[in-house]
Amino acid sequence: MLDQPLEILQPGCVRIGTGQALRLDEWLRHRGLSRPVVIADAFNAIRLSALGLDQETPCQAIRPEPTLTELTEAVAYARGAWRDGPDAIIGFGGGSAMDIAKLVSVMLKPDTQFDDISGPNRAPARTVPLIQIPTTAGTGSEAGTRALVTEPETLRKVATESPHMLADLVILDPELTTSLPAAITAATGVDALAHCVEAFTSRRAHPIIDRYALEGAQLIGKYLSRAVENGNDHEARAGLLLASFYGGVCLGPVNTTAGHAVAYPLGTRHHLPHGLANALMFPHVLAANQDSCPEKTAQIAKALNLDESRPLIETAGEYCASLALQMRLSDHNIPQDDLPEMAAEAHAIRRLLDWNPRDLTQDDILALYQAAY
Ligand SMILES: NC(=O)c1ccc[n+]([C@@H]2O[C@H](COP(=O)([O-])OP(=O)(O)OC[C@H]3O[C@@H](n4cnc5c(N)ncnc54)[C@H](O)[C@@H]3O)[C@@H](O)[C@H]2O)c1
Ligand SMILES: [Fe+2]
Repeated sequence: MLDQPLEILQPGCVRIGTGQALRLDEWLRHRGLSRPVVIADAFNAIRLSALGLDQETPCQAIRPEPTLTELTEAVAYARGAWRDGPDAIIGFGGGSAMDIAKLVSVMLKPDTQFDDISGPNRAPARTVPLIQIPTTAGTGSEAGTRALVTEPETLRKVATESPHMLADLVILDPELTTSLPAAITAATGVDALAHCVEAFTSRRAHPIIDRYALEGAQLIGKYLSRAVENGNDHEARAGLLLASFYGGVCLGPVNTTAGHAVAYPLGTRHHLPHGLANALMFPHVLAANQDSCPEKTAQIAKALNLDESRPLIETAGEYCASLALQMRLSDHNIPQDDLPEMAAEAHAIRRLLDWNPRDLTQDDILALYQAAY
């Protein structure tokens, strides 16, 4: 509904296109910034030259799906990297690196602990700019104010959200994503699609966000299979970065629903990467919600060029399988006897499930896992 209250926060500047990454240095120099700290993953940490930076620039490498331990290490590293402290924080990588960069950027003051800032709207105003440079096209983390970090003891993801974690500059340069292997391209691409689709069909969907969501799904339909087939297709890579960014715009004001809720236990309990976990459950949730939002589901099917005369569970599953994703839970060492516990864990994620267009019971969720097994 248009009269529904909504707030959209967007990064100060978004640069898109081949060659934009190499202009980062110029952006920093124009602002007199000379003490950057980069937070990257292992792959990106060794190619700072792709950003026009000296390879000696202080850079902390973090692992995928980072934990609080890595956040603490990254904060300590950033605080000590320059005698006068850093004057810019750069996230360079997928959602894992960008989420840690967001948190580091609001934790630079000595003695700030994660417990002081975690959860919604507790982080203090930043004193240095934040630059986000995605090298996967999936999470859309660069567009938003949220960061997820795993508690090592419970393996649960803790969400932190603050307008102070929004980037000043986002660079969407397809040149940086051509190196992504086909499997990560496919899984992260379906994650971006899931952000768009779940926001589009959410009970709190909003007409403004619907535009981003549908455009994002159409971009995925047009470009994901092309990028999986040919990683060097720059136009397809740019299309996916844009789709991922749009998905990130959807996450802030509307957020995801059942797809992400049922995907979470695959990551928390069985360590599947976020993108893959979402991809495995995507067709099942799309089909389960179809009768509750038939028109919007039909628009998504059209965006993905699915044959609408056939059952959606088949065509959506075939779409994901055509991206060379192994689409069964049993392909990924998920023990079948854990499915009931996974259903209980997913069913408890009310902050997402309460917005799903259809009420899903714990048994409904178990049936989704069994179908995906
Ligand atoms: N902030 C948010 O709103 C939000 C939303 C969804 C997910 N997340 C978080 O994002 C994380 C997942 O992020 P992701 O799916 O982008 O994956 P990732 O950042 O964990 O990276 C996955 C792998 O891809 C490699 N990689 C990255 N870019 C590459 C490139 N260009 N070429 C080759 N290899 C490359 C990385 O080194 C890593 O091994 C999770 O921690 C998840 O919780 C955050
Ligand atoms: Fe996601």
